[in-house]
Amino acid sequence: MGIKKVGVVGGGFMGSGIVQVCAQSGYEVVLLARREQSLNKGIATIEYYLSRDVEKGRISQQDKDLIRARIKGSLTQEDLNDRDLIIEAIPEDTERKKKVFVELDRICPGHTILCSNTSCLSVTELARATNRSDKVIGTHFLSPVPPSKLLEIVKADTTSEETLATVKKFGRSLGKEILVAKDTPGFIFNYLLIALTRAAEHLLEDGVASAEDIDKSMTLGLGHPIGPLALADFNGLDVGYMVSCAMYERSKNPCLAPSATLKELVDSGRLGRKTGEGFYKYKKEK
Ligand SMILES: NC(=O)c1ccc[n+]([C@@H]2O[C@H](COP(=O)([O-])OP(=O)(O)OC[C@H]3O[C@@H](n4cnc5c(N)ncnc54)[C@H](O)[C@@H]3O)[C@@H](O)[C@H]2O)c1
Repeated sequence: MGIKKVGVVGGGFMGSGIVQVCAQSGYEVVLLARREQSLNKGIATIEYYLSRDVEKGRISQQDKDLIRARIKGSLTQEDLNDRDLIIEAIPEDTERKKKVFVELDRICPGHTILCSNTSCLSVTELARATNRSDKVIGTHFLSPVPPSKLLEIVKADTTSEETLATVKKFGRSLGKEILVAKDTPGFIFNYLLIALTRAAEHLLEDGVASAEDIDKSMTLGLGHPIGPLALADFNGLDVGYMVSCAMYERSKNPCLAPSATLKELVDSGRLGRKTGEGFYKYKKEK
């Protein structure tokens, strides 16, 4: 099946990036938000990044206008009822996501593929909440979406081969390299990332080395662009904590459970860069 019309539910950090890459790749996109304020914020974010691309000479003003014309913002669910493929990018909460899938299943034509951008939740559970479980799949975009080279596709237990093939083709058309994972806690990317971060936290807890030296072992030793503790601070320790809890809940694998240090930092409001302190202390950003 050919994909022409795309929908995105949720215009936050990830949703706005997904809308942008889809429109830049020639798709007509409807961005569905819950409130006018978040819709405006999502559209303004896209405008900002497109204008920056024009300033840096990556695209022309005419390209920007064409891309922008492909994007329509909406607060009305029914505006998604002619889409070929819809990507849900609302907060990481199974019950909230399920509600969105049930509604999309109700209003969309039979051919519409429903995707979730979940970082670690069960895509199969979302699929089973619908009457089209063969057409539900995970599309885990990485942040920031436009420059990221990867798209991790998560095949639910119920996803058909046809849906997988269509979504792989769609992902490649966005300029992404495709990874395909089974529907397991954290899939490939977050399983590896959380396991590495947890090991780094345990080294710190046991007094084996400083945060700087633990991070350096990965940046200088393996060529990672950033060490695991600095990355956790950058992403927000509350986000990492929530993802860890969800992955542990699904897997009961103790290697994925939040460490005592992480819990202590989160409980005390030290959430990383955004609060000025996490594993590291940060000077206030202007
Ligand atoms: N932030 C990351 O680095 C990252 C990376 C990969 C995947 N993800 C996943 O992407 C998803 C979204 O994360 P985010 O960081 O963009 O969150 P976010 O909080 O920035 O954005 C979520 C948006 O969804 C909106 N929303 C909530 N309920 C809605 C509904 N019913 N209908 C329409 N809009 C609704 C909110 O108003 C908000 O604008 C999550 O599943 C997350 O795990 C996040």
